Amino acid sequence: MSFSDTTLARFAKEVAKYPADQKQSAVMACLAIVQQEQGFVSAESEKAVAAYLGMPPIAVHEVTTFYNMYNQQPVGKFKLNVCTNLPCQLRDGQKALDHVCGKLGVEKGGTTADGLFTVQESECLGACADAPVLLVNDRQMCSFMSTERLDELIDALKKA
Ligand code: FES
Repeated sequence: MSFSDTTLARFAKEVAKYPADQKQSAVMACLAIVQQEQGFVSAESEKAVAAYLGMPPIAVHEVTTFYNMYNQQPVGKFKLNVCTNLPCQLRDGQKALDHVCGKLGVEKGGTTADGLFTVQESECLGACADAPVLLVNDRQMCSFMSTERLDELIDALKKA
């Protein structure tokens, strides 16, 4: 696969932030650009980013598989990451995840048939004191997500 001129221009801007012999330092930024433009980072995109940065493809794959904000397959319009690490588990994190899955009729990791929601389990989001927490589309943090607040959020996103 090949990237568009616009994408390549965005890559070049990131690479320019680093010394010429260390352009692989831009790998996370380039993968984020791919995800913004395509919705996920396919295996083909990983290989193309590797070629662009002069890295072994496995080194790029290690990045996309280590950070769970990179989508390795298409996701719904709204990706909901519910934290189930220990501090959140002690304050209904699992209950929140189960409620979201039940309300949307999907298994953990699944996407609704209408393509609107993907529900994922998440590692610590750094907001343990606000548990239960979830993140919408890797950007919007939602705190103190009681069952009622989860219902309100999902209903609002459906109307968005
Ligand atoms: Fe859930 Fe830290 S354990 S935000």
